[in-house]
Amino acid sequence: MIGPENTPHIESIINRFDAPFFFYDLDAMERHLSSMIKDLDPSIKLWYACKANPMSAILKLMRNLGLGIDVASTGELHQVLNTGINPNEVLATGPGKSKEYLKALLKAGIKTIVLESKNQAIWLSELIAEMNVNVQTLVRVQLDWADGKSVLGGNAITPFGLDTAEWEDFNFENYTNLNIKGFHVFQWGNILDVNRLKEIWFKTVEEIQAFSKKINIECEVLDLGGGLGIPYNFEDTPLEFSSIKSLLTEIKQKFRLDQIWMELGRYTVGDHGVYLSKIVDIKTVRGKKIIVCDGGINHIARVALVNEAFPVTAFNKSSDETEEYNIHGSLCTALDYLGTFNLPSSLKIGEWLMFQQTGAYGFTESMPYFLCHMLPGEVIMYKNNLMIPRPPKPSFDWMI
Ligand SMILES: Cc1ncc(COP(=O)(O)O)c(C=O)c1O
Repeated sequence: MIGPENTPHIESIINRFDAPFFFYDLDAMERHLSSMIKDLDPSIKLWYACKANPMSAILKLMRNLGLGIDVASTGELHQVLNTGINPNEVLATGPGKSKEYLKALLKAGIKTIVLESKNQAIWLSELIAEMNVNVQTLVRVQLDWADGKSVLGGNAITPFGLDTAEWEDFNFENYTNLNIKGFHVFQWGNILDVNRLKEIWFKTVEEIQAFSKKINIECEVLDLGGGLGIPYNFEDTPLEFSSIKSLLTEIKQKFRLDQIWMELGRYTVGDHGVYLSKIVDIKTVRGKKIIVCDGGINHIARVALVNEAFPVTAFNKSSDETEEYNIHGSLCTALDYLGTFNLPSSLKIGEWLMFQQTGAYGFTESMPYFLCHMLPGEVIMYKNNLMIPRPPKPSFDWMI
């Protein structure tokens, strides 16, 4: 959560720009990450999945705390290289790796690559031979699950990795330069319940160990991906990382695993960002109180993509008397619905709403040009400095 000590800083940004923006508390993020890595078993390696929020200040924070960075596109690769991240500390995941992109990864000195298809394996092997480089790889496996949906697929058929039968059909012995260190399995996102994680991870390890034996490739490293949840509802209880540490240690011991990796996104940064949007209208439509804000899913598209609201509060305003409002952005589509919340009855046009948990899958998971509204700013607070690396800007600057 963004603490009340940030209120005057947020207020100063509102007064200066009067346009929507994201605010990240990097001090709180640093405290959270430091407690996560404190006394972490050295055979558990954490990477940061930078798709959650690739802002350079956040990448530097991760790097300085010893986390590696997971990239999944040419853009993310450039962003981490531009930020000065050591290529040895970069992991490349993702289903969309062309041969050209694999070559760019190798040219940049990236040494750890997750294989998500037979083509990726063949192209990478050819490039390793051509370019005479050494890399290590993990084989991404998509398991069968009884039921359930997730942004990462759950039991659905997705482009992430291959099923065990498809991999069994691949002649790994012809591609020894791939230097396979283990496996990667990640199909469940935003899980808040440790028992559910235990269920998922136990099944994963059991099936991967059986598979590793079957194809005769040792599992030195098992990468469990991300998936740790954060509270998107006011009633949710946050997941304690101490219980994740205990669970990972239990799994390591029970299954005699050498190394467990995770590349976390949401859990590392989500809670330390808020998005601020101004109320431009309040009205009643067919008996329902409606708020229209100046920014909506054009800046926080995740709400519409996964049909889950970010928790909303009135910025710097509390009141005993509340009522229920449907909150919308300014786009001319009913999809621009940001949730239904109880907010102070005294709310007025020109006041601001604060959307919590938007440090992850916010700014870059958006559609900022639709209807040509303002592009949101990005503001950070770090070591008592308020910095504005990205002021809000008009989108028409970019139109042609
Ligand atoms: C391969 C991979 N690893 C890690 C993550 C981060 O997941 P989370 O934000 O749930 O930690 C993602 C998210 O899509 C991913 O695709």
